[in-house]
Formats: sequence, C-alpha cells, structure tokens
Amino acid sequence: MSSLVCVDDYERHALRILPRSVVDFHRGGAGEEHTLRRNRTAFQSWYIRPRVMRDVSCVDLRASALGCEASMPCGVAPTSMQRLVHADGECAAARAAGEAGTVFILSTLSTSSVEEVAAAAPDTTKWFQLYIYKDRSVTRELVARAERAGFKALVVTVDSAVYGMRRADMRCAFSLPAHLRMANFSEDMAHTSGGEGLLDYVNNLYDQGVTWKDITWLRSITKLPIAVKGVLTAEDARTAVEVGVSAIFVSNHGGRQLDTVPAAIEALPEVARAVGGRAEVYLDGGVRQGTDVFKALALGARMVFLGRPALWGLAHSGQRGVRGVLDIVRAELRTVMALSGCTSVSDITPAMVAPASTYSRL
Ligand SMILES: Cc1cc2nc3c(=O)[nH]c(=O)nc-3n(C[C@H](O)[C@H](O)[C@H](O)COP(=O)(O)O)c2cc1C
Repeated sequence: MSSLVCVDDYERHALRILPRSVVDFHRGGAGEEHTLRRNRTAFQSWYIRPRVMRDVSCVDLRASALGCEASMPCGVAPTSMQRLVHADGECAAARAAGEAGTVFILSTLSTSSVEEVAAAAPDTTKWFQLYIYKDRSVTRELVARAERAGFKALVVTVDSAVYGMRRADMRCAFSLPAHLRMANFSEDMAHTSGGEGLLDYVNNLYDQGVTWKDITWLRSITKLPIAVKGVLTAEDARTAVEVGVSAIFVSNHGGRQLDTVPAAIEALPEVARAVGGRAEVYLDGGVRQGTDVFKALALGARMVFLGRPALWGLAHSGQRGVRGVLDIVRAELRTVMALSGCTSVSDITPAMVAPASTYSRL
C-alpha cells in the first residue's frame, strides 16, 4: 500500500483496473464537465492563513453531525451501485466508515439492501439517502425500512428531479450487469435492464413534481432528522430551513446533474450565510485532501463527504481500500490543522482562509 500516499493515487489505480463502462459511469459528469472540473480547481482559489506558535502537540479531529459523533469531520457520501467496483460493495464501504469512526450514507440505488448493510455494519453510524418516487408508498416504505434497520438520518437528494445529461453514460446506455440488482427494490423495480439504462429508470420513477411541500410530508412520516442534499443558493437554503430540515448539503452531485453550476466550495459561503446557524451545513464535491476539508470547514461546513474517493478505495481492496482513503484524509487534515495552529475543528474559523485573489492583487 506504500505507493498509495494520496487519494489521487487510489483514483489512478482504479482507472487502470476497472472496466471502461464502469470508469465512465463513476468518474464522469454532466455536459462538458465544467462543474466536475471546477469542483476540484475551485479549492485553489482559497489560501490558508496559518497561525504559528500555538502549541499543537494535541490535535483533536472529532466532530458531530445530526447528533452523531464522528472521529473526524469527513464521512462517506451516497454513491449508487457500489458492487460495480467491488464484490462487497456497500457492505465493505459501510464497515470501513465504521472502523474509521465516521458516517456512512447509503444510496437508495444501492446494490446491497438497507437490511444487508445494517447487518454487515451494525456499529457504523449510517444515514439513508432518499429519492422521492412518483409512487409515494415506495418512498414511505424505504423510510420505514431505514428506521427499522437503525439508520440515524434521512438525506433527501433534491437536485435530481430528472437525470443529468451524462454523455459518457448516454453513449454506453449505462445499465447494471445482469448479476447485480438495485437491492432495495422488488424484482419489477429493481432492474435497469432492456438497454434502457439508469437514465430511463430515474426519469420514469422519480417524481419530477416534487416541491418543498414533500419535505413537510416526509417530516410527517418520520422522526428521523432530515437533511437535503443538492442546495447551491441562499434562496433554497432559506426555504429548506423554513420547512424544518436539520441539515443542508451544499452539493452539485459531484458535477453529475446540471453542468456550469458553481463548484460546491464556491456555493458554500452563500449557503452558510443564509442558514446562519439554523441548520447544519455540509459539503461534498471535489474533496480529495486535508487542505480541502480544512477550507470547507473554514467556509462554514460542519462536515464534508467523499463520493468518488470511497469508490476508488473500494476498487483497490474493498473495505481495506476505503479505510485507506479515509485514513489518508484524516492524516492530511491532522497535519494541515497542526501547521495552521488549529487544535480542534472549532478553531477552523473563516479567518483561517482568504481568497487567493487577495494576494495576487498585492
Ligand atoms: C458514481 C456515483 C454515483 C452517485 N450516486 C448517488 C446517489 O445514488 N444518490 C445521491 O444523492 N448522490 C449520488 N452521487 C453523488 C454523491 O453523493 C456526491 O454528491 C458526489 O460524488 C460528491 O463529489 P465527489 O465524487 O467529487 O466527492 C453519486 C456520485 C457518483 C460519482
């Protein structure tokens, strides 16, 4: 494992070993992939303003989110169909998150069911990502199953009323191989077969008529805290708070839905300001190293989540690989905090970063 010193090493390895269609599906974004690229490069638009001589002999990375304790402010984002990249899929990723002491979010479109993941990783803090289906009884049943299986929060993805225009997927009409299925559904809903692909699955079954009223409905059928995932504007953040969500993910779905929206890190300050502490704020999109986590925390995120990096870890060696990725990000964040004079996540305030343009103007 010594050649794997950063998350990008895991990515390079995964791109070498995975089949082309799987790489296209996991790596790709929507349209010209402007937002996908920007999710990474926008982190460079912020510089860290380190403080020195502050006694960093003890650096504490612990965080909490929706009442759940985490050993670090970095968890695993929901990504669909993880058994495409490793036979143990979601069960391995969930166990790795548990070993690392952090949150694992299971996608609705998983290749291991809610119950299988709960049984495989009973001690992991698990949240369940949800889409709102045209047939509300499907969503209602998923919520009940997640509750019964011990999941601690619901993450409603709000940026996916229709499927993003992912050119690589469209070219290969991406669909699940015959030996895998969407494990949370009965046979008739479980397949993206017949060459129709995921695009048709989403466009046929998800409700394109969803509004904020559906969050109110969701709140009426569950006691679990609700986070919405996919907010990029102050206006939507304020509405989300008004309908009573407990947390907001600043996310552009890893650049996979609407191209040319801002990078997650670019949208974060506006959302954090609008929320003003009335809900928790998280970020995902392009986080690959400790400095990224640090900058997101400084700009108002309480936690960040890794999407593709966990998949690259999974592709490398299942549970061990995901753990490896999480450990790298943890070690990097610890170093960044020490070198910036921060001994706890609460020390990572807005004053710890500045736009790079501040310096180039000098
Ligand atoms: C292959 C893949 C599948 C995904 N599936 C889902 C999903 O089922 N539900 C969801 O809310 N987000 C999904 N996402 C988005 C992630 O939750 C997350 O927003 C994104 O991956 C973060 O960006 P990053 O990959 O740069 O870390 C998916 C992302 C990828 C790459």
